[in-house]
Amino acid sequence: MEPVVALDGVGKRYRTGGATVTALEGVTLRLAAGEMVALVGPSGCGKSTTLNLISGVDTPDEGEVRVCGVDLRRADERALTLLRRRQVGIVFQAFHLVPHLTVEENVALPLALDGRRDGARVAELISRVGLAHRRRHFPGELSGGEQQRVAVARALVHRPRVVVADEPTGNLDSASGAAVLELLDELRRAEGAALVLATHDRHLAAAAERVLAMRDGRLLGPTP
Ligand SMILES: Nc1ncnc2c1ncn2[C@@H]1O[C@H](COP(=O)(O)OP(=O)(O)OP(=O)(O)O)[C@@H](O)[C@H]1O
Ligand SMILES: [Mg+2]
Repeated sequence: MEPVVALDGVGKRYRTGGATVTALEGVTLRLAAGEMVALVGPSGCGKSTTLNLISGVDTPDEGEVRVCGVDLRRADERALTLLRRRQVGIVFQAFHLVPHLTVEENVALPLALDGRRDGARVAELISRVGLAHRRRHFPGELSGGEQQRVAVARALVHRPRVVVADEPTGNLDSASGAAVLELLDELRRAEGAALVLATHDRHLAAAAERVLAMRDGRLLGPTP
């Protein structure tokens, strides 16, 4: 079976103020449907960069990235848009909620962008992350952990085949963290979603089938 996510010899460099930072080098990784992989490693080792390349937020300087059979470097704009809208869910490290939309509207956004509505699904996710009483609030009126839970609900609402989550429990207490893990795991088991997480959370990493350590832009140990 074709992997849902495939990275082959991926490299990424950033040029800033005359200096070049190698953020990733020779990263090769395969993820099957229903698999959960945790990326761990010190700050700056390339976890977010890897996630950004998988979600198509950023493009590699070398190597190939394929998601759900789509070659991200060669696909046209329409194919990329459809892939992002329907197949991929992203939890950003800095949340990126839309400030002028309520909790409810933020969570419904992936469906709305695809011309869909599913009030029951939106309400279910909001309640599962413990925010039913905050559903009409704006992001600026929420705590960091509450914003993070909105970001998780938004990433899962459209039942994506690939979920890319950057420290999704980084701001949460253990009970909220467990609720987030349960939601992720449910999507994986029920829908066969593939999950890639960057995390420092031992409980979250322990739930993954594979924990991949990164250092200085490289994956350590046997890959894929
Ligand atoms: N936009 C950018 N411009 C220049 N350098 C960048 C940029 N984004 C990331 N980097 C550099 O690339 C390297 C990898 O960054 P990345 O954000 O992937 O690390 P990380 O493992 O997610 O770290 P953290 O645990 O702190 O989130 C770092 O050295 C960082 O300084
Ligand atoms: Mg990061």
